[in-house]
Amino acid sequence: MKKVQDYYFKKAKREKYPARSVYKLEEAQEKYHFLKRGHKALDIGSYPGSWSIYASRVLGPQGLVVGVDLQDGKPMRQSGRSRIEFIRGDITGDETLETIRIHCSSFDALLSDMAPNTTGNKWADQQKSLELSRRAFALCNDFLRSGGCFYCKVFEGEDFKEFYDTVRLCFTNSRIVKPKSSRRESREVFILGLGFKN
Ligand SMILES: C[S@@+](CC[C@H](N)C(=O)[O-])C[C@H]1O[C@@H](n2cnc3c(N)ncnc32)[C@H](O)[C@@H]1O
Repeated sequence: MKKVQDYYFKKAKREKYPARSVYKLEEAQEKYHFLKRGHKALDIGSYPGSWSIYASRVLGPQGLVVGVDLQDGKPMRQSGRSRIEFIRGDITGDETLETIRIHCSSFDALLSDMAPNTTGNKWADQQKSLELSRRAFALCNDFLRSGGCFYCKVFEGEDFKEFYDTVRLCFTNSRIVKPKSSRRESREVFILGLGFKN
């Protein structure tokens, strides 16, 4: 498994992404093509910026990426890619939502790779993580246009099924994605929802 992780780490370095987590989005995008040119994407938990940079490449110059994270770090703009606006803030706070609205109030895609600071207590960490996934999902009502897509990291724990069933009701199509670049032993998976029923 270490070999696999090294492979993605080196690949990210070579392709100038700040984190190898980019391949967890790229793999899903190459299979399901949910991000389109000209789209607007909200990327929650965006630091250090790999997903935002990758999305801006896919969306192209007419697109827009708004990245939000507790940590500071605006990805550099590169030619031929969409604009990336970065907001430093806590997605659970109303102020952050107001700042997002200044940039855009209706997105085509809502992406979340949020992860909490882990404490070492597996159960508590899973609960915190699920809370963040729930928060990301709740934001679909505020920011995702009808027909839009949702791609969100979730840890499979005891409440996972209930959460997935709730998400499924709000999308025309949904599935659970486990990218090859995600450690096999990790309980991390991604929920992909297509066709938001707003
Ligand atoms: C795995 S990293 C994201 C990596 C990123 N997708 C990339 O490819 O570069 C998870 C991020 O979630 C952020 N995060 C956790 N809780 C958050 C919250 N309440 N509001 C905003 N960001 C949060 C963390 O600060 C952390 O940077």
